[in-house]
Amino acid sequence: MTLGKFLSVALVSGSAALADPTVERGEYLVEGPAGCGNCHTPMGPNGPAERMNLAGRLVEENPHFTAIAPNITPRGRVSDWTDEEFARAIREGVTPHDTRVIGPPMPIALYSRLSDDDVFSMVKYLQTVPTVENDPGASTYKIPLPPAYGPPVGSVPHPEEGITVEYGEYLAGPVAHCIECHSPMGQEGGPDWINQPGAGGFKFDGPWGTSISANLTPHEEDGIASWTDDALKQMITAGLRPDGSQMMPPMGYHHYARLKPEDLDAIILYLRQLPALPDPT
Ligand code: HEC
Ligand code: HEC
Repeated sequence: MTLGKFLSVALVSGSAALADPTVERGEYLVEGPAGCGNCHTPMGPNGPAERMNLAGRLVEENPHFTAIAPNITPRGRVSDWTDEEFARAIREGVTPHDTRVIGPPMPIALYSRLSDDDVFSMVKYLQTVPTVENDPGASTYKIPLPPAYGPPVGSVPHPEEGITVEYGEYLAGPVAHCIECHSPMGQEGGPDWINQPGAGGFKFDGPWGTSISANLTPHEEDGIASWTDDALKQMITAGLRPDGSQMMPPMGYHHYARLKPEDLDAIILYLRQLPALPDPT
């Protein structure tokens, strides 16, 4: 075998093997900034139900769909998926069981940019979480779902970690999907984080009433220009406004409480350099 042929074989089979996934990184992401449990963990009267971590629940019911986040502990359907199938479900919304993609509101279009290291770390961690016996049922979508969220993801290199705008963008986008909830409804029916990133104004109805995501751009009147970093950090990680009032769901404050200080700094750095946009009308 020539060296060239050897290299191409290694590259084809190497996309997963090249990654350096760890259970620790997976736990940090899933329980921390990615907050998968914000949708996948049943809610009790005082927040996430005890001993039900990631066991699945009804997430959203509206005229267009009933979205049920499945049990993703090793007792769920994921139990017999290979690492590659599991990663593909998260990044492409394609599962080995279904003929349709995973529907909203799981932010697959953002998850498609998760690095190989990160998605396989998540998979490794999810394979180790306590198993919970729970069948939350199946979703129904009355709206047409796209055939795919994009071309097959292939291999995504891990970004350089640090307190940089680039890493902040990765955390606020593909990892924590801040930018998804915090962008207004676009033409296509979902949040428009491409043209109006961070402008806020997305409405969330639930048992709490209606909450509206805030404008996170540096806009003087409508955005975060006048908040100090400390005020922002307290709102993000504790859901507490500077006046002491409690913020509303569905933002996963208790997940963001686990953000590493430098990761929180990177997110704030990224938000502060977004184009300043007024509140959507
Ligand atoms: C905003 C809510 C939301 C978030 C956040 C979310 N999911 Fe989901 N997820 C769902 C819903 C709803 C479904 C099922 C949709 C359907 O039936 O098509 C789903 C489906 C899945 C499936 C398919 C399981 C099966 O049995 O078919 C996997 C795997 C999954 N999610 C993993 C994750 C992981 C890992 C994370 C965090 C990185 C995550 N999800 C974050 C809502 C969410
Ligand atoms: C599931 C949707 C959702 C996600 C994900 C989300 N948020 Fe929020 N966020 C909201 C909503 C809704 C509010 C308004 C809450 C209220 O008014 O009580 C809010 C409020 C805020 C505020 C208060 C700002 C102000 O001026 O009042 C900040 C700061 C914030 N979010 C930052 C973030 C960051 C940073 C992330 C990602 C790490 C994030 N959010 C992820 C929905 C979300």
